[in-house]
Amino acid sequence: MPDVKRAAVLVSGGGSNLGAILEAQKSGVLKHVRVELVISSRAGVMALERASKAGVPSLVVEKGAEAPLLQALSDHRIDLILLAGYMRKLTPALIDRFRHRILNIHPALLPKYGGAGFYGHFVHEAVIRAGEKESGCSVHVVDEEFDHGPVLAQARIPVLPQDTPETLAARVLIEEHKLYPKTIEEYSQHHD
Ligand code: GRF
Repeated sequence: MPDVKRAAVLVSGGGSNLGAILEAQKSGVLKHVRVELVISSRAGVMALERASKAGVPSLVVEKGAEAPLLQALSDHRIDLILLAGYMRKLTPALIDRFRHRILNIHPALLPKYGGAGFYGHFVHEAVIRAGEKESGCSVHVVDEEFDHGPVLAQARIPVLPQDTPETLAARVLIEEHKLYPKTIEEYSQHHD
């Protein structure tokens, strides 16, 4: 990969992690990666507004539409794919083409509470139900299995006795916003 990698951020919703990545780009925390494209699996989401405010081109890719996705990645000469709340499974062909060049953030301490069905509030509900004393977030390299590839970095926070899935999600999200940009920067510096 070149010195400054061209990244596509894949989103499906609020895009607060996309916001944190764009902010990190501005503040200089993220120097070796530039967001060149935002791809959303849903129309009308806040993440798309964030992209447009930042002047980053974006597009919505409908379910099952692999060809336009691959075309956009190639048109924008994308080196690195950053999943940020992307709610759709990537195809094996895409994963293979971007082997070691797709990262994801997951709102739990993997390998716990990852895999099919562990997304959004389901993750935090399960953590609380199990009586875990700590939770957090993990950044990992994406492979063919959900939430499975090598973990690059984690941030930990205590689970408080009064936590609900919502309060826990909110505190984990604060950590995500710090951990993801920092880890993206480190990874892109050390991997071609
Ligand atoms: C985050 O909790 C992330 O870990 C998970 O989906 C959520 C996305 O939030 N994969 P946002 O769209 O970045 O606000």
